[in-house]
Amino acid sequence: MSLSIKQGTVRHSTGYSFKGRARILYPMKKNSSSRWLAHTIGTESYKLLNFDHPTIESLILDEMDTGFDVYYDNRWGLTTNFSNWLAENRHLVANRNIIILGAGAGIETLALAKYGKNIYLNDLSELSLKLCAEQLDINELTNYQLIPGDFTKIAVPPECDLAVACFSIYCQATASGIGKFLDRYDGEVIIVNEYLKAFREFLATTKRKHETLQEWEGGIALRFFSKS
Ligand SMILES: C[S@@+](CC[C@H](N)C(=O)[O-])C[C@H]1O[C@@H](n2cnc3c(N)ncnc32)[C@H](O)[C@@H]1O
Repeated sequence: MSLSIKQGTVRHSTGYSFKGRARILYPMKKNSSSRWLAHTIGTESYKLLNFDHPTIESLILDEMDTGFDVYYDNRWGLTTNFSNWLAENRHLVANRNIIILGAGAGIETLALAKYGKNIYLNDLSELSLKLCAEQLDINELTNYQLIPGDFTKIAVPPECDLAVACFSIYCQATASGIGKFLDRYDGEVIIVNEYLKAFREFLATTKRKHETLQEWEGGIALRFFSKS
């Protein structure tokens, strides 16, 4: 677990943050010198946007300072685990048109673009989608489209036959939002999440049939079956 305080915003590595006057600083290992960091998914090499780079960091903080509650300014261990697991289970997404809910600039977007047919990136934050597109471009992955907006309201392109939500449930609003998405989207959905309180409550109330695909310490990947 790591905590950092940046311009008065206290962030927690699970995605929670609160604004306050706290001045306690928990040191974090940072590498802020380069815009891109080397990363491996399976056996393939990628470039990852460095959220600690001053230019990127200030863009994201400016967005958060406008009161926009977005939490894509971190790399989640669970997302890394899921992406590596996908490298071993490509058949699950091969030839599929995948809408990625709450994509941020997450590592899963690289794996899904690589192993899927086309990806459709959704997020509330247009800035995150811009950064995500930049990250895909530098990795020469061009099979993507952007779908900004609230995942409870966006129109899902009819060609999409899979939805993936990776670490998109972290509070009551996101839990109920993903619940609403499941109610109106009949296709298959893969949800990957840490066992946060909101996620556990979501699981306790969902009526949609699902199975476990993979479990990691602290998190899980579930497949919600297509309704048809
Ligand atoms: C914890 S981040 C996860 C980002 C990425 N999927 C990953 O695993 O690295 C959650 C993302 O969900 C997005 N989000 C939250 N509520 C949303 C909503 N109602 N509609 C679309 N995106 C939303 C946030 O902006 C953020 O990018």
